[in-house]
Amino acid sequence: MKNVTVVDHPLVQHKLTAMRRKETQPPEFRRLLREISVLLAYEVTRDLKLAATPIETPLTPMQAPSLVGPRPCLVSILRAGNGLLEGMLELLPEAAVGHIGIYRDHETLEAVEYYFKVPSDIAQRLVIVTDPMLATANSSTAAVERLKKAGAKDIRYVCLLAAPEGVRAFGAAHPDVPIFTAVVDEKLNERGYIVPGLGDAGDRLYGTK
Ligand code: PRP
Ligand code: URA
Repeated sequence: MKNVTVVDHPLVQHKLTAMRRKETQPPEFRRLLREISVLLAYEVTRDLKLAATPIETPLTPMQAPSLVGPRPCLVSILRAGNGLLEGMLELLPEAAVGHIGIYRDHETLEAVEYYFKVPSDIAQRLVIVTDPMLATANSSTAAVERLKKAGAKDIRYVCLLAAPEGVRAFGAAHPDVPIFTAVVDEKLNERGYIVPGLGDAGDRLYGTK
């Protein structure tokens, strides 16, 4: 699985354990996902380019490192992607934000798209796609396909939990798109849920079960 970076920082793992607990309620679930997303953003942006910029401190002029292009665009896969989006925007406040509405058909597990809105200059941006769950990879594969059709070239995918089956399927469809995740879990069950997992991320975020 060479397309995957597992963010195994102890704070991420500890907070993820709290999210997995079945008794954790939406307010705490949302807070934990937001906190983890800041830590994931730190990893996914680790190799961004810097250039020396002339500035003046109160004491002296200096050449100080500043970020130089490409400008980022965060793309949230609705609904659950919004849970990762907010914390990432705290670290990347200048980022543009796109939204892709996709849900899994519960019978076929196929991805169904219902909304798509991204900035018109997506081809020039570093695109970071957020969705906490990479299960069969039907949703993520369709989302990235759609983004490429819209012109995106430089894409990274950030999730919280991935299934090995999903990582393989996504890697086969989009070998150019690196995945960042907090963990690769054991397997998918017969209904396409990640095991041990954390259940339905959207329902647990927004209390819709
Ligand atoms: C969840 C999750 C992913 C998708 C992952 O969304 O947020 O988008 O399932 O599953 P896959 O890898 O098998 O495609 P869901 O379909 O439950 O939609 P929701 O966010 O609107 O609840
Ligand atoms: N979507 C979820 O929200 N959870 C899973 O385990 C699989 C897909």
